[in-house]
Amino acid sequence: MVSLPYSQACENNKQPILARLKEVFVGPGTALEVGSGTGQHAVYFAAALPHLTWQPSDHPASIETCRPRLAAAALANLAEPLVLDVADTVWPLTQADMAFSANTAHIMSWNEVEALFHGLGRVLSPGAPFCLYGPFSYGGRHTSGSNADFDRSLRARAAHMGLRDMDDLQPLAEDTGFYLESDTAMPANNRLLVWRRR
Ligand SMILES: C[S@@+](CC[C@H](N)C(=O)[O-])C[C@H]1O[C@@H](n2cnc3c(N)ncnc32)[C@H](O)[C@@H]1O
Repeated sequence: MVSLPYSQACENNKQPILARLKEVFVGPGTALEVGSGTGQHAVYFAAALPHLTWQPSDHPASIETCRPRLAAAALANLAEPLVLDVADTVWPLTQADMAFSANTAHIMSWNEVEALFHGLGRVLSPGAPFCLYGPFSYGGRHTSGSNADFDRSLRARAAHMGLRDMDDLQPLAEDTGFYLESDTAMPANNRLLVWRRR
């Protein structure tokens, strides 16, 4: 049997994330996922949320990682993954009804995080939700020692990476047409942020 790209973190967090998505992604439509990684979230959420069309995507450098798992799942409501670098001025889709991204904001450069919000501001209609999952800091303070360690390790790996602070995300979200609807504590010092397009 061929082994598929695998993330233990995805296995650990997919159930709590799904519980929240069930509360937020209530209506039918297309859910754009940015930075699908291994595709584990895409397969799990598409199977559990049959009223949605799940649209995976990833950066051109990573897109091949998700393809085998998505193809093996062969779910009717799981779309072919899109090549999407959020920094591109033209995105490969013009409209989505909701958006999801997990563990991407601390991997992207700040310019890319800005591009993510600007792009979603263009693609999402008024009232559409954007769920962003991951570890975040607040007022320049980490919420746990493990998040502080993780932030240090990211910055040592690449200067453009690092945990994002809500004091930076909030003004960016407001400037790009989103308001914060909820900020939910998740296991392992992560958060599920729900922004909604004005
Ligand atoms: C830590 S992985 C998270 C993958 C998956 N969402 C998860 O939770 O396991 C970060 C993801 O962000 C994607 N990414 C980084 N920069 C990006 C960009 N500029 N545009 C789109 N995706 C990007 C990477 O390709 C990768 O899939």
